[in-house]
Amino acid sequence: MEHKRLSPFPKDFLWGSASAAYQVEGAWDKDGKGPSVWDEFVRIPGTTFKETNGDVAVDHYHRYKEDVALMAEQGLKAYRFSIAWSRVLPTGRGEINEQGLQFYDDLIDELIAHNIKPVVTLYHWDIPQGLQDAYGGWESRQIIEDFTTYAAILFERFNGRVHHWVTLNEQNVFISHGYQLAYHPPGVSDEKRMYNANHNANLANASAINKFRELGTSGKIGPSFAYGPNYAIDAHPKNELAALNAEEFNANFWMDIYVWGEYPKAIFHWLEEQGWAPEILPGDTELLKKGKPDFMGVNYYRTMTNAFNPIDGVGHGKMNTTGEKGTSEEKGVPGLFKIQDNPYLEKTNWDWEIDPTGLRIGLRRIASRYRLPILITENGLGEYDSLTDDKEIHDEYRIDYLRQHSLAIQEAITDGVEMLGYCTWSFTDLLSWLNGYQKRYGFVYVDREENDEKELKRYKKDSFYWYQKTIKENGANL
Ligand code: NOJ
Repeated sequence: MEHKRLSPFPKDFLWGSASAAYQVEGAWDKDGKGPSVWDEFVRIPGTTFKETNGDVAVDHYHRYKEDVALMAEQGLKAYRFSIAWSRVLPTGRGEINEQGLQFYDDLIDELIAHNIKPVVTLYHWDIPQGLQDAYGGWESRQIIEDFTTYAAILFERFNGRVHHWVTLNEQNVFISHGYQLAYHPPGVSDEKRMYNANHNANLANASAINKFRELGTSGKIGPSFAYGPNYAIDAHPKNELAALNAEEFNANFWMDIYVWGEYPKAIFHWLEEQGWAPEILPGDTELLKKGKPDFMGVNYYRTMTNAFNPIDGVGHGKMNTTGEKGTSEEKGVPGLFKIQDNPYLEKTNWDWEIDPTGLRIGLRRIASRYRLPILITENGLGEYDSLTDDKEIHDEYRIDYLRQHSLAIQEAITDGVEMLGYCTWSFTDLLSWLNGYQKRYGFVYVDREENDEKELKRYKKDSFYWYQKTIKENGANL
């Protein structure tokens, strides 16, 4: 629908930006930090572009004050970052590494001192290697207790200073990439194991949320999920059915369980037919139902377009997510849907569809299915930026992308969707898990290349100033 006038953004709307520990911190083995699965995985030849790793990343660990000063200059209302589990608990459980915890304590204080609200992600893919070695990480039910204990340490320490908590970042990506596509650690390709690990992650998520409430922690908590609506290529009923299958398979299967504690029936039945369904033990459903989140965190980048795919059709049945490698090799799931190019959408230089209207559609779908407020925990444009001779970055393409997506949020607000905030991805440039440093998302350019750290100097891009103005005007002139 077209609105005659758009509603203003709420007064306390969180104009923010985001990052993740492994992608920015560096200091991978400093001050008592233990290795995470990523610290080990990147040493296996061929896993990442030009063998890049996050050993130094953009050295946020040592430069966080400089970065927070830039955030304050921009006027950010919120900064979303993740805590590296193995900095706090070097092997994932047992004794706390006080120096590691202190880093986040200091970062949080620094943000608050600059009037920036910390949005804390408990887990952004870097499970301690110690837990992987001890019992296979997410594949064991032991993870439920260990994740909850780790989360409780953070709830107790930061209660009252942090008001927005994100449990698991993109469970659909770390599970599918880790246990099916084998692009991420632990590099497994086995559906039965994948759906089991996923079920454990669901239980760990719910258990941490329950713990949050038991401890009387203040603020709101929820997962962040990689979501984009699934369209039908046209109005042929079989293609519409394929789009519905895709939506249930790629999205509802993951979000229903967070909110209602149950998997959608059609997809669960389909998994049973494949022999892939996870085992649901007595007590699981009760735990899951109790752990309902306060909001849905959404990482939005793109949409997918689908068509009918017969049971002996194309594709290898793998997940279709917004992972770094895109979907070009993942053409669909036989019997459910196949993925098509959308003739109406342009793509980025990294082959991802650009679809601000898709964001509005997605927000409407989530709001009406789950009746929860929504926090956009990520959205942004990955590009090859270049530094001019006079040290500027003219990223008008990013301004255009962010402006259109902000407008889509305002339209969704006008539609009646309760929106908590917009955390763009990312604040500074950072390590793109598999693509090194060539795919840049930040407002702040960091001068480094794949295997050349240079001086890691920060330069404000044109988009930095555009967002600064947008925040100042609370999105009034998009
Ligand atoms: C999702 C992930 O959460 C983040 O870590 C990643 O870099 C971006 N999307 C871009 O792919």
